[in-house]
Amino acid sequence: MESSSSLKVSTKLSINGEEKEVTFRYSEILLDVLRNKSGLTGAKPGCLNGDCGACTVNIDGVAQKSCLTLAVEVREKEILTIEG
Ligand code: FES
Repeated sequence: MESSSSLKVSTKLSINGEEKEVTFRYSEILLDVLRNKSGLTGAKPGCLNGDCGACTVNIDGVAQKSCLTLAVEVREKEILTIEG
């Protein structure tokens, strides 16, 4: 049986005003999807526990830490990174 952490989803994410088709694991954090699947490296991995803010992006106009946000949570939202 496949664990839920290895299940993948293919979807479009709205990033910096563009729709991008991406595939990621359900358990994957937004920070990793932005950096590794979308080529957007402006959000940086720092503490990875919500303390430093190096990974901050805007989601629907609200600053949020992408290391604490699952990519699957932002499917219907507007993501704005430093590149945007
Ligand atoms: S990496 Fe430090 S708050 Fe996200």
